[in-house]
Amino acid sequence: MIGDHYLIWVTTDEILCGNIGAMQDKPSVVVTRRMPEAVHARLLRDYRVVPNEDDHAFSAEELISAARDAQADALLICATDPMDADVIAALPDSVKTIATFAVGVDNIDLAAAKARGIVVANTPDVLTDACADIAMLLTLAAARRAYEGDQMVRTGAWVGWRPTQLLGRDLQRKRLGIFGMGRIGRAYAKRAKAFGMKIHYCNRSRLDRRSEGGAIFHQDIEEMLPLCEFFSINAPATPETKGFLNAERIARLPEGSIVVNIARGDLINDEALIAALKSGHVAAAGLDVFAGEPDIHPGYRELPNVFLMPHAGSATIETRDRMGLACIDAFDAFFSGRPVPTQVA
Ligand code: DGY
Repeated sequence: MIGDHYLIWVTTDEILCGNIGAMQDKPSVVVTRRMPEAVHARLLRDYRVVPNEDDHAFSAEELISAARDAQADALLICATDPMDADVIAALPDSVKTIATFAVGVDNIDLAAAKARGIVVANTPDVLTDACADIAMLLTLAAARRAYEGDQMVRTGAWVGWRPTQLLGRDLQRKRLGIFGMGRIGRAYAKRAKAFGMKIHYCNRSRLDRRSEGGAIFHQDIEEMLPLCEFFSINAPATPETKGFLNAERIARLPEGSIVVNIARGDLINDEALIAALKSGHVAAAGLDVFAGEPDIHPGYRELPNVFLMPHAGSATIETRDRMGLACIDAFDAFFSGRPVPTQVA
């Protein structure tokens, strides 16, 4: 897989030790965004790092130029970096592996990477809990009108307690429908269950009983939607799921339902959701991801009944460290000729 390319850099001892840092000629890595300190330090120790000095979002051209100028062996990219078939075709032959600082790989044309023999790795598992926590935060914030409450206190509009002020919805005994029951969906279900919610889910295939943890499986999303007092999107963005939550599907949700999205913005038809939030058919939403980030649909900014977060699902100190270190683990494995445990292409 890495064959001759690998033999340029390493001695047998280094292969046996798996010690990339000891290589005479360290592999060079273009790192598209500023990394957490611990990640940066390990990268510097073991790789020739080509950083993005001012941490701006690279355009496709800048990404390609950086890879070409450095004759990079590897790229450490993020979910916001464009890695479509055209970019992959324009990368220099020196690039043999890409690690993405994300679990989502919708920004990467995996088939194109595979066809070029570029090994791609992502960072599953390490961010599951942080993302499930944010899903719970969005659920609670939407149900309990956290944005409106915060505004009321900050702006001085709060003139005191009263029995009918800012009434939200209970989570207890409510049906939560989860679309996409992967690692994060399951971790979120566990949390929601602890809040007394009744979990339903729709997934490509049914989970085994243990992983289901009492959740009710629906093969057919159209049949699950009318049950969902709360509805959460936890599925990856693919050509099939783009625009998934459209006007027709929103109409199938019960009146006054609550929508949560921590997956990808592309799964929601923004016009349709905004119309439903305005009419009250959807009572509230908690959104961490948006189509066209950071230029989100302006309609969301005006609505009091949406709680908005800036794609922060995995944004904890501990998790971001683990994500970066997982990317380096992938490089270490690759450049030591070991299987890459998180390989996705
Ligand atoms: C992911 O890991 O896919 C998160 O959305 C961060 O990009």
